[in-house]
Amino acid sequence: MDWIDGIIGEATVSPFEAVLLVVMLAGTLLIVFYAIRTGVPPQSSGRAARQAVLHLLPDEIEGPIVDLGSGWGALVEDLAARYPDNRVVGYELSPIPYWISLLRLRLKPRPNAEYRRADFLKADLSAFHAATCYLMIGAMKPLATKLNELPDGAVIVSNAFSLHGWTPEETITLSSTGATMYFRYIVRRDTVA
Ligand SMILES: C[S@@+](CC[C@H](N)C(=O)[O-])C[C@H]1O[C@@H](n2cnc3c(N)ncnc32)[C@H](O)[C@@H]1O
Repeated sequence: MDWIDGIIGEATVSPFEAVLLVVMLAGTLLIVFYAIRTGVPPQSSGRAARQAVLHLLPDEIEGPIVDLGSGWGALVEDLAARYPDNRVVGYELSPIPYWISLLRLRLKPRPNAEYRRADFLKADLSAFHAATCYLMIGAMKPLATKLNELPDGAVIVSNAFSLHGWTPEETITLSSTGATMYFRYIVRRDTVA
Protein backbone atom coordinates (compact mmCIF):
# COMPACT_ATOMS: atom_id res chain seq x y z
CA MET A 1 0.00 0.00 0.00
CA ASP A 2 2.35 2.63 -1.26
CA TRP A 3 -0.29 5.35 -1.24
CA ILE A 4 -0.93 4.91 2.56
CA ASP A 5 2.78 5.06 3.25
CA GLY A 6 2.88 8.20 1.18
CA ILE A 7 0.11 9.89 3.23
CA ILE A 8 1.58 8.83 6.59
CA GLY A 9 5.02 9.87 5.43
CA GLU A 10 3.77 13.32 4.39
CA ALA A 11 1.85 13.74 7.66
CA THR A 12 4.97 13.25 9.76
CA VAL A 13 5.45 16.25 12.06
CA SER A 14 8.63 17.59 13.58
CA PRO A 15 9.02 17.61 17.40
CA PHE A 16 8.50 21.39 17.34
CA GLU A 17 5.25 21.05 15.37
CA ALA A 18 4.08 18.28 17.72
CA VAL A 19 4.68 20.47 20.80
CA LEU A 20 2.95 23.39 19.09
CA LEU A 21 -0.08 21.21 18.28
CA VAL A 22 -0.31 19.95 21.87
CA VAL A 23 -0.03 23.50 23.26
CA MET A 24 -2.72 24.76 20.86
CA LEU A 25 -5.02 21.86 21.72
CA ALA A 26 -4.50 22.37 25.47
CA GLY A 27 -5.14 26.14 25.07
CA THR A 28 -8.34 25.51 23.14
CA LEU A 29 -9.56 22.99 25.75
CA LEU A 30 -8.78 25.47 28.56
CA ILE A 31 -10.79 28.19 26.81
CA VAL A 32 -13.71 25.79 26.25
CA PHE A 33 -13.54 24.57 29.86
CA TYR A 34 -13.86 28.13 31.25
CA ALA A 35 -16.55 29.07 28.72
CA ILE A 36 -18.60 26.14 30.03
CA ARG A 37 -17.79 26.98 33.66
CA THR A 38 -18.79 30.65 33.41
CA GLY A 39 -21.43 30.12 30.73
CA VAL A 40 -19.81 32.89 28.67
CA PRO A 41 -17.31 32.52 25.80
CA PRO A 42 -14.42 35.01 25.74
CA GLN A 43 -15.69 36.85 22.70
CA SER A 44 -14.37 40.38 22.39
CA SER A 45 -16.84 43.13 21.66
CA GLY A 46 -16.01 44.72 18.33
CA ARG A 47 -14.98 48.34 17.79
CA ALA A 48 -18.55 49.56 17.07
CA ALA A 49 -19.88 47.75 20.14
CA ARG A 50 -17.17 49.27 22.34
CA GLN A 51 -18.01 52.71 20.96
CA ALA A 52 -21.68 52.15 21.80
CA VAL A 53 -20.71 51.22 25.38
CA LEU A 54 -18.49 54.31 25.68
CA HIS A 55 -21.29 56.46 24.22
CA LEU A 56 -23.66 55.33 26.99
CA LEU A 57 -21.17 56.16 29.74
CA PRO A 58 -21.07 59.70 31.14
CA ASP A 59 -18.14 62.03 30.36
CA GLU A 60 -17.10 61.99 33.99
CA ILE A 61 -17.20 59.15 36.49
CA GLU A 62 -16.52 59.76 40.17
CA GLY A 63 -14.48 56.65 40.99
CA PRO A 64 -13.09 53.37 39.67
CA ILE A 65 -14.62 51.55 36.71
CA VAL A 66 -14.96 47.78 36.32
CA ASP A 67 -15.35 45.57 33.26
CA LEU A 68 -17.10 42.43 34.48
CA GLY A 69 -15.54 39.68 32.40
CA SER A 70 -12.76 41.55 30.60
CA GLY A 71 -11.91 38.82 28.07
CA TRP A 72 -8.85 39.77 25.99
CA GLY A 73 -8.81 43.32 27.39
CA ALA A 74 -10.07 45.40 24.45
CA LEU A 75 -12.78 47.23 26.39
CA VAL A 76 -10.57 47.82 29.46
CA GLU A 77 -8.00 49.45 27.15
CA ASP A 78 -10.64 51.75 25.63
CA LEU A 79 -12.02 52.63 29.06
CA ALA A 80 -8.54 53.36 30.41
CA ALA A 81 -7.86 55.64 27.44
CA ARG A 82 -11.13 57.53 27.78
CA TYR A 83 -10.90 57.92 31.57
CA PRO A 84 -7.19 58.48 32.27
CA ASP A 85 -7.92 59.75 35.79
CA ASN A 86 -10.03 56.73 36.80
CA ARG A 87 -8.75 53.33 37.84
CA VAL A 88 -10.09 50.69 35.41
CA VAL A 89 -10.23 47.08 36.60
CA GLY A 90 -11.00 44.04 34.46
CA TYR A 91 -12.14 40.84 36.17
CA GLU A 92 -11.53 37.70 34.13
CA LEU A 93 -11.62 34.03 35.14
CA SER A 94 -10.48 32.38 31.92
CA PRO A 95 -6.65 32.13 32.13
CA ILE A 96 -5.72 32.47 28.46
CA PRO A 97 -7.67 35.68 27.73
CA TYR A 98 -6.44 36.98 31.11
CA TRP A 99 -2.77 36.26 30.23
CA ILE A 100 -3.20 37.83 26.78
CA SER A 101 -4.74 40.97 28.32
CA LEU A 102 -1.73 41.22 30.68
CA LEU A 103 0.61 40.83 27.72
CA ARG A 104 -1.24 43.55 25.80
CA LEU A 105 -0.94 45.84 28.80
CA ARG A 106 2.78 45.17 28.97
CA LEU A 107 3.19 45.94 25.26
CA LYS A 108 1.03 49.06 25.49
CA PRO A 109 1.10 50.25 29.12
CA ARG A 110 -1.92 51.98 30.58
CA PRO A 111 -1.00 53.07 34.10
CA ASN A 112 -4.64 53.30 35.22
CA ALA A 113 -5.62 49.79 34.03
CA GLU A 114 -5.31 46.49 35.86
CA TYR A 115 -6.63 42.92 35.56
CA ARG A 116 -7.68 40.55 38.31
CA ARG A 117 -8.01 36.83 37.64
CA ALA A 118 -11.04 36.29 39.83
CA ASP A 119 -14.76 35.60 39.80
CA PHE A 120 -16.48 38.98 39.85
CA LEU A 121 -19.50 37.38 41.56
CA LYS A 122 -17.25 36.75 44.59
CA ALA A 123 -15.44 40.11 44.45
CA ASP A 124 -16.24 43.24 46.44
CA LEU A 125 -17.70 45.64 43.88
CA SER A 126 -18.74 48.34 46.35
CA ALA A 127 -15.99 50.78 45.30
CA PHE A 128 -16.89 50.91 41.59
CA HIS A 129 -18.84 53.88 40.25
CA ALA A 130 -19.28 52.38 36.80
CA ALA A 131 -19.52 48.82 35.49
CA THR A 132 -19.64 47.37 31.99
CA CYS A 133 -20.50 43.84 30.92
CA TYR A 134 -20.92 41.68 27.85
CA LEU A 135 -22.13 38.32 29.11
CA MET A 136 -24.92 35.85 28.32
CA ILE A 137 -28.51 35.55 29.56
CA GLY A 138 -27.69 32.93 32.21
CA ALA A 139 -24.89 35.04 33.70
CA MET A 140 -27.06 38.18 33.88
CA LYS A 141 -29.36 36.84 36.60
CA PRO A 142 -26.79 36.48 39.43
CA LEU A 143 -25.18 39.70 38.23
CA ALA A 144 -28.46 41.61 38.65
CA THR A 145 -28.36 40.87 42.38
CA LYS A 146 -24.60 41.33 42.71
CA LEU A 147 -24.76 44.86 41.26
CA ASN A 148 -26.74 45.92 44.30
CA GLU A 149 -23.30 46.40 45.90
CA LEU A 150 -22.46 49.36 43.68
CA PRO A 151 -22.87 52.79 45.25
CA ASP A 152 -26.06 54.70 44.70
CA GLY A 153 -25.85 56.62 41.39
CA ALA A 154 -23.31 54.24 39.82
CA VAL A 155 -23.79 53.63 36.10
CA ILE A 156 -23.93 50.19 34.45
CA VAL A 157 -23.73 49.58 30.72
CA SER A 158 -24.57 46.15 29.38
CA ASN A 159 -23.80 45.01 25.86
CA ALA A 160 -26.53 42.82 24.32
CA PHE A 161 -28.28 41.50 27.44
CA SER A 162 -30.57 43.28 29.85
CA LEU A 163 -30.39 43.06 33.62
CA HIS A 164 -33.13 40.94 35.11
CA GLY A 165 -35.52 43.07 37.20
CA TRP A 166 -33.85 46.41 36.40
CA THR A 167 -35.34 49.21 34.31
CA PRO A 168 -32.88 50.73 31.84
CA GLU A 169 -32.48 54.50 31.86
CA GLU A 170 -31.54 54.40 28.17
CA THR A 171 -31.42 51.74 25.47
CA ILE A 172 -29.84 51.98 22.04
CA THR A 173 -29.93 49.54 19.14
CA LEU A 174 -27.05 49.41 16.71
CA SER A 175 -27.77 47.97 13.26
CA SER A 176 -24.03 47.80 12.48
CA THR A 177 -23.62 45.21 15.25
CA GLY A 178 -26.53 43.02 14.09
CA ALA A 179 -29.32 45.00 15.82
CA THR A 180 -27.64 44.45 19.18
CA MET A 181 -29.12 46.36 22.10
CA TYR A 182 -27.08 48.27 24.67
CA PHE A 183 -28.55 49.15 28.05
CA ARG A 184 -27.65 51.86 30.54
CA TYR A 185 -28.78 51.52 34.14
CA ILE A 186 -28.31 53.80 37.11
CA VAL A 187 -28.07 52.20 40.53
CA ARG A 188 -31.05 53.25 42.62
CA ARG A 189 -31.61 51.02 45.58
CA ASP A 190 -35.29 50.56 44.72
CA THR A 191 -34.59 49.33 41.13
CA VAL A 192 -32.59 46.27 42.15
CA ALA A 193 -34.24 42.88 41.84
C1 LIG B 1 -18.01 38.01 25.97
S1 LIG B 1 -16.54 38.27 26.91
C2 LIG B 1 -16.49 40.04 26.97
C3 LIG B 1 -15.09 40.61 27.01
C4 LIG B 1 -15.00 42.12 27.15
N1 LIG B 1 -15.78 42.62 28.25
C5 LIG B 1 -15.41 42.81 25.89
O1 LIG B 1 -16.46 43.47 25.89
O2 LIG B 1 -14.69 42.71 24.90
C6 LIG B 1 -17.11 37.83 28.57
C7 LIG B 1 -16.02 37.32 29.51
O3 LIG B 1 -16.55 37.22 30.82
C8 LIG B 1 -15.84 36.21 31.51
N2 LIG B 1 -16.63 35.84 32.70
C9 LIG B 1 -17.88 35.33 32.72
N3 LIG B 1 -18.30 35.15 33.99
C10 LIG B 1 -17.28 35.56 34.79
C11 LIG B 1 -17.11 35.65 36.20
N4 LIG B 1 -18.10 35.26 37.03
N5 LIG B 1 -15.96 36.15 36.69
C12 LIG B 1 -14.96 36.55 35.83
N6 LIG B 1 -15.06 36.50 34.48
C13 LIG B 1 -16.21 36.01 33.96
C14 LIG B 1 -15.70 35.13 30.46
O4 LIG B 1 -14.61 34.26 30.76
C15 LIG B 1 -15.48 35.94 29.18
O5 LIG B 1 -14.12 36.04 28.86
